[in-house]
Amino acid sequence: MEGNRENFGGRVAVIMAMAGSAIGLGNIWRFPYLVGEHGGSVFIIVYVLATVFVSLPVFVSEVVIGRRSRCNAASAFSSLSGGNRFWKAVGFLPVAIPLIIVSYYSVIGGWSIEFLVKSLDMSITGSDPAYAEGLFDSFTSGGLMPVVMHLVFMGATVLVVAGGVRSGIEKFSKLTIPALFVLIVVIAVYSVTLPGASAGVSYLVRPDFSEFTPRTAAYAMGQSFYSMSLGMGAIITYGSYVSRKENILASSVGTAVSDLGLAILAGFAIMPAVFAAGIEPGSGPGLIFRSVPYIFATMSSGMPVLSTVMSVMFFLAVIVAAITSSISLVEVGVAFFVERTRLGRKAACLLILVLCGTAGTFCALDGRVFDVFDKTSSNFLLFVMALVSVLFVGFVMKRADVFDEVTNSGSLKTPARLFPVLYFLIKWVAPLAVVLIFVTNFIL
Ligand code: PFF
Repeated sequence: MEGNRENFGGRVAVIMAMAGSAIGLGNIWRFPYLVGEHGGSVFIIVYVLATVFVSLPVFVSEVVIGRRSRCNAASAFSSLSGGNRFWKAVGFLPVAIPLIIVSYYSVIGGWSIEFLVKSLDMSITGSDPAYAEGLFDSFTSGGLMPVVMHLVFMGATVLVVAGGVRSGIEKFSKLTIPALFVLIVVIAVYSVTLPGASAGVSYLVRPDFSEFTPRTAAYAMGQSFYSMSLGMGAIITYGSYVSRKENILASSVGTAVSDLGLAILAGFAIMPAVFAAGIEPGSGPGLIFRSVPYIFATMSSGMPVLSTVMSVMFFLAVIVAAITSSISLVEVGVAFFVERTRLGRKAACLLILVLCGTAGTFCALDGRVFDVFDKTSSNFLLFVMALVSVLFVGFVMKRADVFDEVTNSGSLKTPARLFPVLYFLIKWVAPLAVVLIFVTNFIL
């Protein structure tokens, strides 16, 4: 199998593809509204700690599973456990979960395309703020446009994946991820220089510890898992395309830093503007589709061209972030179908387009279906799978084999020195943290 499998071409390619998966709607849509709902700066602090001490070890575990097995996420567990029946069965979870996620994820991708169009034709910046704020509700209540846009987004995703690991996924991520950082930095600079923005800046940098509750921790950790694309087979699958020469720890740290960096930048792109426009920061999931258009419409009275350009850049950034993530979700399924059935890459892409296009259509038409897909996958299944991955690496795989992967047979000095700490985090800290999130979510 090793011979005919594609690999990413080097460290930069690995980090760009993995960061492409990690950086997504989680950073630009979910992170800012969770920060707003959970006390600002305190949430960010817990989120950073959770990423370093819990998500990073889980991430490394998934890359290890992928690279060592060099196969799709379903076969990885059974191949590493010598064909054990339990692990054979468990392996189907990380293929089913991403297909559930991508179905609703691409609906949000579709909304973003619609809002890019609305930015370009100036329906946002050319109208009064209350109208701009209401655009989202009128767009999503009835009508087929959300379905059409979802299918456009899904089609674009599948087109990139059909191009292959190197000339599709890698090329696209290398091009778009740096551009995404530039877009977000420009928007953040615009946002923090708006009159009245300073209250938003201090909301992000001055912690108010009285806001901290166990729920803050649970949400911050959940967000960190979601943002790092854990528990969905995506990192296992991408890990299987990492060559034996790469340094797994360095690539994982590079991905985590990019992901954290972009989330925090997105916070600075949104929160100061939210405060400048006098909006309540804890307004929930509608933040970027209701409040952001409101902000752009408010700001356009003085400078219509500038705010139109910013609005276009913002929704372009959301689309780019979303598409590189949905690509990684689709690739999980494609790798599975290509290696386990007789389908070729293009046929597998088509099959997923039909499956997830259909499931997503229900999400686009009915908010309740959307919620079920979102909640079951991102609040529940993701943790189950992440737990399975760390337990597998910590207790099923041999310590020596894990050491071998992380240090490239002992040849990488820094990973070798850090290994005992990393292994402890994988074996004890990460599983315990996941169980704690579960308990907190259910009891509190
Ligand atoms: N990490 C993505 C985000 O933050 O939007 C979401 C995601 C993508 C989760 C891919 C899981 C995954 F496999």
